[in-house]
Amino acid sequence: MLQKKDLLGIRDLEVSEILSIIELAKDMKPIVLGRKAKLSTLKDKSIVTLFYENSTRTRLAFTMAGMYLGANVVDLGIATSSVQKGETLADTGITLDRMGIEYMIIRHSMSGASHLLAKNVNASVMNAGDGANEHPTQALLDLYTIYEKKGGYKDLKVTIVGDIAHSRVARSNIFGLTKLGAHVTLAGPGTLTAKSMEALGCEVTTDIKASVKNADVVMGLRIQMERQKGGLFPNLREYSQLYGLNEETFSYASEHAILMHPAPVNRGVELMPELIDSQVSVIDEQVTNGVAVRMAILTLLSEGRQSS
Ligand code: CP
Repeated sequence: MLQKKDLLGIRDLEVSEILSIIELAKDMKPIVLGRKAKLSTLKDKSIVTLFYENSTRTRLAFTMAGMYLGANVVDLGIATSSVQKGETLADTGITLDRMGIEYMIIRHSMSGASHLLAKNVNASVMNAGDGANEHPTQALLDLYTIYEKKGGYKDLKVTIVGDIAHSRVARSNIFGLTKLGAHVTLAGPGTLTAKSMEALGCEVTTDIKASVKNADVVMGLRIQMERQKGGLFPNLREYSQLYGLNEETFSYASEHAILMHPAPVNRGVELMPELIDSQVSVIDEQVTNGVAVRMAILTLLSEGRQSS
């Protein structure tokens, strides 16, 4: 059970809560793979997805997770909703609350949007990404994937490469991995990394090869053109030559290293196709694990709601 109404960030989670989500995700995965029957944990419950920013994986993973647990899942469809008439986030949330919706999944460009929604509704709110702040369910699926492949986190060397500055995925992973005892190195151009992030308990460097050396996990990040104001690197071609991960760069990692990426991937920019489609890549498994992890989160939040 999660002793909270909402899941808004990894920063707020105890290690025991992270591990309980991962433990339960293991039980949920056979359902996602079609090897076990669906559940009725959320029968007669309603979930709404509110995506103010685009998504394929997160929105559909939550939708499938809800369906595998027997819930009714609806999408608000922000582009055709009264948000377009100027309705505030709080008013939208209160409206959905009054319809008896118990679970709300929100992605928004504003950092803190999920916290604002959570304060205004009785429903359990799950943060599906808020600005450059956090993307907790992505980090939880990443942590689950690392657990599956590496069996734990203590003293694991994890290198995160790319657009760190704009990445809510990086921030959530840093919070989670450092809590669990992994060593985290952040690497990218100086304009997309910040030495100040060392305050979060990781190393920061602009030397990609040195950062990848002996890494157990290498995580590429998408260049987030939608959050950049321009001028952070000369052009995509130059970025890919200097900072894109390829087979040569990856050869510096440890022998059984895995390649991760939250996706969508800019093929040929931050990751070269030969690496994405190679044996070291677990990107497709991350997608499957994303459904299992969201099933676990919904289940644990529902147990908390029943006991309160
Ligand atoms: N990884 C991730 O958040 O993907 P989507 O933007 O497709 O949801």
